[in-house]
Formats: sequence, structure tokens, C-alpha cells
Amino acid sequence: MVLLHLGFINGVSQCPLVTPLVQRRSHKASRHLRFIAQSIPSRTQRIMEGISVSDEVGGAGGAYSYNALKRLDKLWSDICSAQTVVQEPQQIVSSVRGIFDADDKAVDTFDVLVCGGTLGIFIATALSSKGLRVGIVERNILKGREQEWNISRKELFELVEAGVLVEEDIEEATAMKFNPVLQLAEGDILSSRLIIDAMGNFSPVVKQIRCGRKPDGVCLVVGSCARGFKDNSTSDVIYSSSSVKKVGTSEAQYFWEAFPAGSGPMDRTTYMFTYVNPQPGSPKLEELLEEYWDLMPHYQGVSLENLEILRVIYGIFPTYRDSPLPAAFNRVLQFGDASGIQSPVSFGGFGSLTRHLQRLVTGIYEAINEDFLDSYNLSLLNPYMPNLSASWLFQRAMSARQQSNVSPDFITELLCVNFQSMQRLGDPVLRPFLQDVVQFVPLAKTLGLVMLTKPQLLPSIFKQVGIPVLLDWSGHFFMLGYYTFLSTFADPVIRPLLSSFPSKMNYEWKRRLEAWKYGAGLDYKR
Ligand SMILES: *[C@@H]1O[C@H](CO)[C@@H](O)[C@H](O)[C@H]1NC(C)=O
Ligand SMILES: *[C@@H]1O[C@H](CO)[C@@H](O)[C@H](O)[C@H]1NC(C)=O
Ligand SMILES: *[C@@H]1O[C@H](CO)[C@@H](O)[C@H](O)[C@H]1NC(C)=O
Ligand SMILES: *[C@@H]1O[C@H](CO)[C@@H](O)[C@H](O)[C@H]1NC(C)=O
Repeated sequence: MVLLHLGFINGVSQCPLVTPLVQRRSHKASRHLRFIAQSIPSRTQRIMEGISVSDEVGGAGGAYSYNALKRLDKLWSDICSAQTVVQEPQQIVSSVRGIFDADDKAVDTFDVLVCGGTLGIFIATALSSKGLRVGIVERNILKGREQEWNISRKELFELVEAGVLVEEDIEEATAMKFNPVLQLAEGDILSSRLIIDAMGNFSPVVKQIRCGRKPDGVCLVVGSCARGFKDNSTSDVIYSSSSVKKVGTSEAQYFWEAFPAGSGPMDRTTYMFTYVNPQPGSPKLEELLEEYWDLMPHYQGVSLENLEILRVIYGIFPTYRDSPLPAAFNRVLQFGDASGIQSPVSFGGFGSLTRHLQRLVTGIYEAINEDFLDSYNLSLLNPYMPNLSASWLFQRAMSARQQSNVSPDFITELLCVNFQSMQRLGDPVLRPFLQDVVQFVPLAKTLGLVMLTKPQLLPSIFKQVGIPVLLDWSGHFFMLGYYTFLSTFADPVIRPLLSSFPSKMNYEWKRRLEAWKYGAGLDYKR
């Protein structure tokens, strides 16, 4: 039996409000400080306070107010200044055996409880359509949030296949399947056979599993959706024009993304993002937003005065090298961003969620039905994936290193050579990469071509990412090849035998075949 202390599910919102930087020394001094704070609000503050903020939804990029920005920046600087452990994690999950009989006291009993409803709704709906009793635990009102995202038709179709979208849209399906809403008091008990942790990057359960460890890398994103652009037809998936820039006391390489927004013909969403190693002095989100207001109009060929800012967007996306996260407790499985399955380069959590949905729904359904709910059996659902681990190198290569003797133009140059090579190799190489799927053959071809055309980049690559990361990466690259081989040649031999295996072996082998296929990026179809 597993106990999840619901009272702490609000983990994310518990971060303290901005603490005063200067202790009150004298009455006069504090008044002076307040005067300054009131007289020069930053451009970001002025813009954000000029937009009406409706109620906020949690999750990455879900909160829009200026105060929420300050809170996130505080959390972010705590991460940066920590040595290794950001904060001693609270104990959210504890195992108990025979202390009480849950069914007696439970206000409701489920097969699966999904914690975190914003994106957890997808897996919840899919499992519920398979006939399981599913409940969602969410601290806010269960609703989506407005966010422009570029998702492919194929990825959306994945949702239909998994039984999430039928003819009705998600909202209707949600209202239909997840009634009634229970208001829980602390101390109320919900009992369930499996808990799915869909609480995202900052899940308190993940914090407990990772012992509050500081992330290995972070992607900082700022952006806005605005009205008044001239160009409403093109989009950029990734764009970079400048060299490494100084921001605050450290350095950053900026990348951009831009696409038309559905809210109006002259509306566009633009993002500026950068990969950083969390350390003291790393840029704050507000500093990045200040840069963004300067650079975005240049990038898009408009002037800021002519734009009506509809929404300001910002977020921090942490990654850990050891991802996906294996299940650490019996009966608790991480899902979506919480499991760390998203690419550490694009952080396209939603895209990866949709791609893995079908696989996970089938696996979870089997696990529930046949009682494969201990941490070992659940871990087979979040297995090692060499394509994910290999992507870590790309994040390293794209983040500016402090005090490195690599030229400030190196990252742009490297990207340029890579994309040129991929373009020469054609769509079969370029397309999967743009949709976050790393595959062995395209990767090997691209690297080969880069080495042939620009061998002089090699020493800088070594300096930029470091020998240990390169060695580690070679291992994953080898495994990527091996998984590709296994999935191509061993899978067809083993698959027909599956039905003759006893149930535990059948479950294990199915998961293994999936791990080969997904770990080699081979579920990708054009
Ligand atoms: C989304 O990306 C695809 C290419 O990946 C592009 O063809 C399409 O126009 C984009 N849609 C939007 C709204 O940006
Ligand atoms: C782009 O703007 C033109 C002119 O306002 C409009 O006719 C067209 O529908 C817009 N396209 C999109 C994709 O919004
Ligand atoms: C996995 O689940 C099966 C079926 O409940 C169980 O027999 C087995 O002990 C579990 N764990 C391991 C490590 O095999
Ligand atoms: C790994 O492959 C799977 C299956 O194709 C895909 O969904 C996922 O996005 C890939 N991840 C990376 C980082 O390439």
C-alpha cells in the first residue's frame, strides 16, 4: 500500500513570495527603497500589468502575472545558488503495510488516480475509455489553458487512436467522464491501485525520488503572443542569428521560435529560449524578457510600439541526464514531463506525451489487469531510451559555457553546418529531427557529413561539451545502433512467440520490444 500525502500536492505553489533583498535598517532607508521600486517598474512589469490576467493554471508556462514571474525567478535563483540539493524534499510518498484498511475509510476507490490534471487528462481519458475507474486529483479547476503550440496532424491523430479524442472535443469528453467533482478535505482518503504522477517538471514526488537534486541542465523560455505583425504565413522552428551574448553576469546563446497564432490573422507567438547550466549568476527570466523586448521586434521586423501584447509567456524546463525516471515506488508511475521523457533539446513535452500515449495506455492497462504494479514491473514502462540519452549532447552543445575559450560564434556555426548537412541528406533525415526524433541512421549520416565538410570544428566541439559528456554520448550512440538492430531484426522473430509466453514473461517481453522500438526512435512514421 502506498500513501500519497495530498496536502502537499500544492508543492509548486508553496514557493515563498519574493523575499525582501535588503533588511530594514532604518525607516528612512526602507521608504527610499520602496520609492525606487515604485518609480521605475521594468518594461516587463509595465507590459505584464497592462494585460488583464484571468485565473492562472499551473504547470510549465501556465502562469502569466508579473507576481508569478517574480515567484518563478525566485525559485530559479534558489536552484542556481544551490550546491547540489536545491531543497530537502518533503516526503510525499510513504509505504505502509497493514496499518489501516483503506477501503473502510476511503471516500472513493479507483483503479487509477491521476495526480495533475492539466495534461494528465489525456492519459486519464484514454484509460477511462478502456473501462478502468479513473480519478483525477487536481488542485485547480480542471480546465485546459490557452497556449499556442505547433503539433503535427500525426501527433494529434495519436490522441484519437488512444481514445482521447473521439468526435467531441476534449472538453466535452472531460465533462462527461469525470463527474462528479469531489472537494477533498485534508485527511480524506482516496484509494487506488495505481497512482499516475502527471504533476510535471516540478512534481513533489519526483523531487522526493531525485532527493531534491539540482537539475543537470535548464532551458529558459520567454515569449509573447502579440497582435500587429505583418507576416502571418511563415514560422520558424528554430532560429538563431547572434553569437553568445552577455546577460547579467553570465553568457547565453539565444534561439527563437515563431509561428502564427490562431487568435487573429495578424497575431504571432514568438519565443526566445536559451539553455543554461544552473549556477549562480545564470540569467533570470525577467532579464531575458527585457532582452526579448529589444530583440524580438528586430527579429520580426516590427516595432514594439505597433504591437499589442496579448500574453506574456515564460517558463523554466529542467532536465536530468538520467531520464526517463524509473518507478521508485510500488504503485506510483511518473507520466509526461514528470517522467523526463521529453526531449532535452526541444522540451516538446506535449508532442512526446502524445507519441508515447498509445504505448503507455496499453502497458498501464495490462499492468492493472494482471497486477504488475510493483516498482520493477512499472519501471519497464519508463525504460532506458538511447535516443533520449543521446540528445543530451545536443543540449550541451547548444548552451554557452562560462569561461570557455570557444569562439562566441561557435554554436551558430555548428547549428548551421548541421542543418546544412541534414538538408543535403533530404527529408528522411531532416523531418524526424525537426519533430524531436533522433534515429541512428540519420544521425550517423549527419555526423559523418559534418565531419567530412568541417573537420576543423572538431576541437571546438571537444572544448564545448567536454570529454566526459562525449564519452558518455558514444555509449548511447552505440546503444542507439544496437536498439535499431534489435528492433529491426530481433523483434520480428520474437513477436510471434509472445502469445505462447506465460503472463509475466509476456508482459516483460512486450515492454522490451517497445523499449527497442521507442528507444531507437522507430515509432516515427512520416
Ligand atoms: C507547424 O509546423 C509545420 C512544419 O513542421 C508547418 O508546416 C506548419 O505551418 C506549422 N504550423 C504553424 C501554425 O506554425
Ligand atoms: C493572413 O492575413 C491575411 C490578411 O489579413 C488574411 O486574409 C489571411 O487569412 C491570414 N492568414 C492566416 C493564416 O491567418
Ligand atoms: C512483477 O509482477 C508479477 C505479477 O504480479 C510478480 O509476480 C513479480 O514478483 C513482480 N516483480 C518482479 C520483480 O518480478
Ligand atoms: C525517441 O523516440 C521516440 C519514439 O520514436 C520519440 O517519441 C521520442 O520523441 C524520441 N526522443 C528523442 C529525444 O529523440
